[in-house]
Amino acid sequence: MKNQGLYRQLRAISPSQTSGKSYVDGMKSIVASSNNYLGLAEDQRLTDEAVKIMKEYGIGSTGSRLTTGNTIWHEKLEQRIAEFKKEEAALVFSSGYLANIGVISSLAGEGDVILSDQLNHASIIDGCRLSKAKTSIYRHINMEDLREKLMHSQHYRRRFIVTDGVFSMDGDIAPLREIKTLADMYNAYVIVDDAHATGVLGENGRGTGDHFDVAVDVTIGTFSKSIGTEGGFVAGSRSLIDYLRNRARSYIFQTALPPSIMEATIKAIDIIESSPQLQVHLQHLIRSIRNEFLDYGFDVRGEQTPILPVVIGDSEQAMAFSKELEKNGVFAPAIRPPSVPQRESRIRMTVMATYIEEDIQQICKAFYKVGKQLEVI
Ligand SMILES: Cc1ncc(COP(=O)(O)O)c(C=O)c1O
Repeated sequence: MKNQGLYRQLRAISPSQTSGKSYVDGMKSIVASSNNYLGLAEDQRLTDEAVKIMKEYGIGSTGSRLTTGNTIWHEKLEQRIAEFKKEEAALVFSSGYLANIGVISSLAGEGDVILSDQLNHASIIDGCRLSKAKTSIYRHINMEDLREKLMHSQHYRRRFIVTDGVFSMDGDIAPLREIKTLADMYNAYVIVDDAHATGVLGENGRGTGDHFDVAVDVTIGTFSKSIGTEGGFVAGSRSLIDYLRNRARSYIFQTALPPSIMEATIKAIDIIESSPQLQVHLQHLIRSIRNEFLDYGFDVRGEQTPILPVVIGDSEQAMAFSKELEKNGVFAPAIRPPSVPQRESRIRMTVMATYIEEDIQQICKAFYKVGKQLEVI
């Protein structure tokens, strides 16, 4: 792995008192690759809620939801998610990863087929692998390929189409309306992982379904991106949630999240729902940074989402790019295979609604300088 430039190392990040900046291994930097798109992870209002509950209840939840770990705060949050996503019910998991593997592997079984987008997140892939269903991969957001695969899947007991709402490494959006039309034509269920769309797309950040005004069968998500806390969820019909509560192994055999996190998450959803200006401002920043990068001549993927991947190509070159950015006070790690296809290594630049003008200028200046220096542009 070292020889191929694929060896991974950890970096230690700690907050700095300066707006928009953090310390990365002791060096002050702008973190330009966080999933904290709305800046809620360090929002004082969330911290206050968490501390209040922690003082009242303690730290750990002590058990799985079905034994001693269930509290009124878990149930309150599930109700709040259902309301927010306009679904009948919701279920909280300890992470988005666990939600994906738990939901997919308990819904799809022997005799079923899962049609999965080529660029779906690893947790979806693992969910498919854990299920006993046949997985058929369709080309990334290619509706002709999906149609063909659905046409040849009529002999399976049931068909599930599973897709990211917003693709985590490319920042593009799944064409949910077309997917739903095909699903209806070929009698398939639609499962959407809305990890990166929640808080970003749709009215009040409701997600991809709302963005396209389409209802899907199962919505999965995480609190670890725009919402700024921790945990995962699934939202859908009451019978779906009831079934998953009894069947999803990563829900049943997992210690519940602490109540403090539940309360902070409720606060975050309240803020997102009541502050549409956050999404408007984020979209404005996305457009201006994206246009600037395109003007420089970068290969920028994604649109309308805070994920703006700058494709560099070779893994070593992407690593060098990231290192040089860091010397210029910008932290954005290189993303390499297997997270992205071979020769498509990239800097996964992300935009935060809390960037100030000075941050944006520093990020743009650093990308331009390094792009020229390494002859990427
Ligand atoms: C598309 C997608 N789904 C699921 C997850 C997993 O969520 P979590 O970090 O809460 O486990 C992530 C990222 O981590 C993701 O990008």
